[in-house]
Amino acid sequence: MIFSLLFLCLNLSTLFRFSSAGGAALQNYNQSDYDDSIYGRSGRRLYAANDFKISEEDYNAMLEKLAQGYMSNSDLERAMQEFNSRCPNISRVYSIGKSVLGVPLLAIEISDSPGNMDAKPSFKFVGNVHGNEPVGRELLLMLANWLCDNYLKDSLVTTIVDGVHLHILPSMNPDGYAQRRRNNANHIDLNRDFPDQFFPVNDDMDLRQPETKAMLNWMEDIHFTASATLHGGALVANYPWDGTEDKRRDYFGCPDDKTFRFLASLYSRSHYNMSLSKEFPDGITNGAFWYPIYGGMQDWNYIHSGCFELTLEISDNKWPDASELPTIWDHNRMSMLNLVGSVIKFAESYSVSCAIQTGIHGRVLSSDGIPLPALIDIWGINYTITAGKKFGEYYRLLAPGEKYEVIASMPGYRSKRACVILGEGAVTVDFVLDPETSSTHSESRVLEDYAGCYYDSKPSLQVIDFLPVTQLEISVLLFVMLGLLCFLMQRRARRNQKQMHVSLPRRAAVV
Ligand SMILES: *[C@@H]1O[C@H](CO)[C@@H](O)[C@H](O)[C@H]1NC(C)=O
Ligand SMILES: *[C@@H]1O[C@H](CO)[C@@H](O)[C@H](O)[C@H]1NC(C)=O
Ligand SMILES: *[C@@H]1O[C@H](CO)[C@@H](O)[C@H](O)[C@H]1NC(C)=O
Ligand SMILES: *[C@@H]1O[C@H](CO)[C@@H](O)[C@H](O)[C@H]1NC(C)=O
Ligand SMILES: [Zn+2]
Repeated sequence: MIFSLLFLCLNLSTLFRFSSAGGAALQNYNQSDYDDSIYGRSGRRLYAANDFKISEEDYNAMLEKLAQGYMSNSDLERAMQEFNSRCPNISRVYSIGKSVLGVPLLAIEISDSPGNMDAKPSFKFVGNVHGNEPVGRELLLMLANWLCDNYLKDSLVTTIVDGVHLHILPSMNPDGYAQRRRNNANHIDLNRDFPDQFFPVNDDMDLRQPETKAMLNWMEDIHFTASATLHGGALVANYPWDGTEDKRRDYFGCPDDKTFRFLASLYSRSHYNMSLSKEFPDGITNGAFWYPIYGGMQDWNYIHSGCFELTLEISDNKWPDASELPTIWDHNRMSMLNLVGSVIKFAESYSVSCAIQTGIHGRVLSSDGIPLPALIDIWGINYTITAGKKFGEYYRLLAPGEKYEVIASMPGYRSKRACVILGEGAVTVDFVLDPETSSTHSESRVLEDYAGCYYDSKPSLQVIDFLPVTQLEISVLLFVMLGLLCFLMQRRARRNQKQMHVSLPRRAAVV
């Protein structure tokens, strides 16, 4: 009991600390302007062109190589192996399957613990889904090298490498690429080959393409928190749903529409000029509003693997001259980094963390310390994610500037709820679930019951329902102790935070 209270207290002090970090900004927030307050009125504050930390000579040599021409499939494989031997400590190269013609679908993992199963979030980038859209595969190799060259030199890069398992699949469709056409070698559009939520067109697993199967297995293996696929033909960040129930072209938002709009805007506003689009307000679009598709990969990710995926159209011209690649890379670099950065838990080393990180993250443990693969729900959003089996970790992306009630539930345990106001930055909420006993009635997953995130005018974070009512007598006494401990810890956390603000100047990128 004491142990679990101490644990709770630690959580509370973490919450308070985030609350004090976001408190000032929160008062200015309302639902219509949260994104402006985060990005700045110009909408392009996160974009910075020349903040590279490797020598300018080396970087220019890389750009020159990029501009010389697109890599063939064997060039790409060689480039990936070369990358891996240049940065062996923070990468590994592996295959997720083979194309129709037997070309390996190679992926790079970048992380300070590549291949380790740990509690960090995973993010994936997928390029060249359509064979005739090759810009993404070149950019993804540049991204990998950028991360390698700036690790331990640039704080965002270091935070990404230390805080995320970043998986990069430069080409999902090498056969289509070799023939310079959209579909794979069996003439199938891979972005129409996934099971669809409305129309049972692709439900036969045996008829699915090997590239699609490889993706499905990959997503089963790795619990991705978010991802993006890179396409060409427009300049816009596209988010779910991609299809409508009645095949009409119409805005059709998924339960996490707000979160997706936040993520898509994060990309477009970090981009050199995506957000200035005349065609797409703010440089983002709902997929079905643009044009409905069925059997796409984006919706499948969200529905079946708990992964928030964007479809990024990064170049009006599908196959621009290679001499344009350095510019396109430059325009997208900050967006790519910021998008990956958005899934990271709070990291002290990165001082602009607040501008890009979002969501509620933490762990779920039983009261005797066993990690639980609990279900995580947000009241009012019809979408459930599952905490990791091994560590009980969860990453719930959410739009900032709102209050949320998080519910952790697990069969055999009493569910618990926490109220969180999400300001700038991510918030950590850990749950300790007590086993259900015969005296406690079953109430797992009672989502209809709004426990009530009610607040007084002063923004503060509240954790409710942690203490069972049946033990009120003991609880009162312990609560006093808890309050005292939290007060002390909160003071210490504030002090630490002050020091952090003093010692770390804000990056030029957010000026
Ligand atoms: C809310 O947003 C609107 C539109 O941006 C603005 O006019 C209004 O002042 C904001 N309210 C507060 C309390 O910030
Ligand atoms: C890799 O890590 C080892 C041990 O941590 C270190 O000695 C070595 O210098 C590192 N190599 C590179 C290329 O960073
Ligand atoms: C963005 O910049 C590129 C290159 O400078 C240009 O070709 C494109 O038309 C611009 N797009 C928008 C939406 O401003
Ligand atoms: C929640 O979503 C599921 C599909 O994931 C759907 O079947 C169900 O009807 C939805 N519930 C509500 C209340 O909208
Ligand atoms: Zn495409």
